[in-house]
Amino acid sequence: MQSVELDISVTADDAILWRDDVLYLLDQRRLPQEERFIRCQDAADTAEAIRAMVVRGAPAIGITAAYGVALAVRQRYAEAPEHWRGRVAQDMQLLARARPTAVNLFWALERCRRELETVAGGDPFPPMLVLAQRLHEQDRAMNRRMGEFGASLIEGPTAVITHCNAGGLATGGHGTALGVIRSAFAQGRITEVFADETRPWLQGARLTAWELVRDGIPVQLMADGAACARMGAGGIGWIIVGSDRIAANGDVANKIGTFSLAVAARHHGVKFMVAAPTSTIDPDTASGADIPIEHRAAEEILNCAGCPVAAAGAGAWNPVFDVTPAQLVDAIVTEKGVILAPDAAKIAHHLSG
Ligand code: MRU
Repeated sequence: MQSVELDISVTADDAILWRDDVLYLLDQRRLPQEERFIRCQDAADTAEAIRAMVVRGAPAIGITAAYGVALAVRQRYAEAPEHWRGRVAQDMQLLARARPTAVNLFWALERCRRELETVAGGDPFPPMLVLAQRLHEQDRAMNRRMGEFGASLIEGPTAVITHCNAGGLATGGHGTALGVIRSAFAQGRITEVFADETRPWLQGARLTAWELVRDGIPVQLMADGAACARMGAGGIGWIIVGSDRIAANGDVANKIGTFSLAVAARHHGVKFMVAAPTSTIDPDTASGADIPIEHRAAEEILNCAGCPVAAAGAGAWNPVFDVTPAQLVDAIVTEKGVILAPDAAKIAHHLSG
């Protein structure tokens, strides 16, 4: 993976760029200090960028994987115009292994697989690039619709809490949870945002704060453990988060710490909203117990920003997502509308509509 600086004024909606027939990913590991891009020329680069969290956030991972398939198709067709399909299938397996929890990755790869089946002969690269660009554009449009649906639930004016980063950086643009926050702030329904810093990767401190400050939306960071006390202090109307996978019964996988926010929200009578496109709902996963939860290296906990913080010899438990039971969710908001008090029947009805 090659790191480069691009001659553009970077916004959160530029995290995934197709330029001069190459994929550029804003290196989110370096934000907010540096705005550099990683250049991906093939599926291996793209899979490594997803694994290493150059790009992260469920919808962004899916869109990136679709561009990765386009890169794979171009490379393998040039190498062997008669036998490219087998090699592309291997590249798609590599992409699928990059991260396990965000179902948008597998959803996007399935869309690519179906598109590849329709390619009869000739160069398969143009239709696969068109598909990746269409998924990218559709995600932006869905987030704008989701923003309006989510905002309509917030009576306000109120402060809200968000966790991790579910903004433009985590999507094709605008964001899911931050999309709702942007729309609601523009309508005067949200006064300020309390953002969990989100240990260990600090997506809240590094990414959510970066986005909100640039938008002029007041943001106060908190240590993750402060959220419960903040709810107790009053003035918080909603918790608004994104998701990596929503099971068929409405259980929600999201960044580690989301479950404890939901428990604390119910205790304090604060409402809990999950904003996610329907591509995040996985009808093949019956309940949260069936969602594969990614565990990452102990070093992520034992260090902070590259500096050791733990006593030498300590181990670490590092699941990076948890599952919030559907009973604790007041609303799931998708591009199609709102599911209040979600359960299996409502989710199935929403998907079929
Ligand atoms: O580990 P990450 O940074 O990829 O985790 C991201 C999240 O948990 C987000 O909340 C989720 O993907 C929704 S992004 C719109």
